[in-house]
Amino acid sequence: MYINFWYPMALSTEVTQEKPLRVTVLCLPFVIFRDTAGAAKVLSDTCVHRGGALGLGKVRGDHVACPYHGWEFGGDGGCKRIPSLGEGAQLPARAKVDSYPVLEKYGIVFAFLGDLPETERPPLYAIDEFGTPEWRAQTFVFDVNAYYERSIENGLDPIHNQFVHAAQGQPSLSPEQQRTALPMEEIPWGSKHYIKFGGTKSEDTALANVRQGPRIGAAGSWHQGPNQLVTYIDLTATNSFHQYMFEAPVDESHTRVYLVSMRNWLLEDAHEGRMADITRKVVQEDMVIVENLNPIRTPDSNTREVLVPGDTAIAHYRDWLKKWDALGWKIDVKALRAKMGDVAMAIPSPARRDSGNWVHETVPLVSNPG
Ligand code: FES
Ligand SMILES: [Fe+2]
Repeated sequence: MYINFWYPMALSTEVTQEKPLRVTVLCLPFVIFRDTAGAAKVLSDTCVHRGGALGLGKVRGDHVACPYHGWEFGGDGGCKRIPSLGEGAQLPARAKVDSYPVLEKYGIVFAFLGDLPETERPPLYAIDEFGTPEWRAQTFVFDVNAYYERSIENGLDPIHNQFVHAAQGQPSLSPEQQRTALPMEEIPWGSKHYIKFGGTKSEDTALANVRQGPRIGAAGSWHQGPNQLVTYIDLTATNSFHQYMFEAPVDESHTRVYLVSMRNWLLEDAHEGRMADITRKVVQEDMVIVENLNPIRTPDSNTREVLVPGDTAIAHYRDWLKKWDALGWKIDVKALRAKMGDVAMAIPSPARRDSGNWVHETVPLVSNPG
């Protein structure tokens, strides 16, 4: 797992001005709350006083107050009040926690978990259809007992559909397509395949009889960064499913997946329940597979598995992971685990580039990849 990308932290509806929310992402605790202007704030959860969990405290106006001795921190991470020192007291300069950039889009609160300045940050994926009248969105949250990279690889894998989702009539590749390396396109922060599908399964779906317009019959998947995945299933121009997955690695074997599923047909309310049932069923089929992979995490070398042309997209994804390894963005989880319990740690926030005097150590990063 990596610093310096956007991670989904919570649904917008979970983040309130009344009560802070405590979540674990990248093995570390974070606190999320809304200030009086309604802006969502994401801070490192650990109070620098004596280690209280801010997420178990209270929201007081624009601050989150620690449950242990009431120290209050603003959305910028700075300590604003220490009750035991009295009003107007000089506050210690080291009394601050990391605060992370936030974007709230698609009904999800995202945080940039890293210290890159704004101009250098890999982007949050833009869902252009979201909020337009031609498209309808359904959002799901799934807690998956699997490592997020295995989950992303599953989404990039076009061959599994006919085995794992046989009942769904998912688009499948023709035998020729399966034997040929997928035509890959490099995109910013990722790689993509989008091809006409050759199988006949999609003709069998229960939805086939309501299709309109000339057949496109194409589908594809791509990733942007390590944890954002897009899948298009375009039957015709006006019969499409576009699915966007934003994945939060909770730890080495748990992932919270936020799925924004868009469609430009079957828009009436009457279809909502059926569409949601199909999506849940498909995800459930995937979960049974990815939750039982061995090893749990993506192997460090492709020689530990046997890849074939149908795995081209997975090989490209792994190449991208290596690029981010080389940038020094990979968290050394084993070193992190060895220290946790004795040392409170945080993902470095952008403010660390401008000021020193931080109480908590930053997570160990893999400095010598490979
Ligand atoms: S530990 Fe947070 S106020 Fe004391
Ligand atoms: Fe699948």
